[in-house]
Amino acid sequence: MAWIEGSALGHLMRESGVWTYGCVNLVHILGVASLFGAVLVLDLRLLGLWRKVALPAISQPTVPVAATGFIIAVISGVCLLATKATEYVDNPFLYIKFPAIGLGLVNVVALSSLSAWKQHKVRAPSSRERSKLALIGGISLSCWLTAIAAGRMIGYW
Ligand code: HEM
Repeated sequence: MAWIEGSALGHLMRESGVWTYGCVNLVHILGVASLFGAVLVLDLRLLGLWRKVALPAISQPTVPVAATGFIIAVISGVCLLATKATEYVDNPFLYIKFPAIGLGLVNVVALSSLSAWKQHKVRAPSSRERSKLALIGGISLSCWLTAIAAGRMIGYW
């Protein structure tokens, strides 16, 4: 934390004007909103909503929007952290947020390794596979909701 706070990025964030933190925070929220908005639609479909809509019709727009939102959230998040990283050391919500993000990413890897997901553009999943996809959708929602709730709480500790 001391290293990142003392880095060139930390100095830039603190010394480049009063608007910098607010604007980067706005970018963070836009990244988070894009990530969660896309993930919410995809996860609800995996959980069994809108069965009449083909899964590829939902995954095609939501996956790239979620991935782009995540990258934006990570880059802007590191900038926010660098501003006053040492102040967060005792903040319990940070230690909830980062494991939740980590688990969310592990869940993405688990989804990507499922043959039902790998082949979802060419065939429909079996009922057993649908249950696995629903489980992954539920875990995903819990992880990202936890990350958002903990992220929002960080500032109030
Ligand atoms: C490496 C990645 C990330 C880092 C280092 C990071 C870091 C931060 C920091 C330092 C803050 C400011 C806390 C404060 O108010 O003092 C913040 C806010 C927040 N973060 Fe992140 N974040 C990251 C990724 C994410 C992701 C992926 C999500 C959502 C799933 C997220 C959700 C939030 C939310 C909701 C806020 C509250 C913003 C506000 O209310 O103004 N963050 N983050």
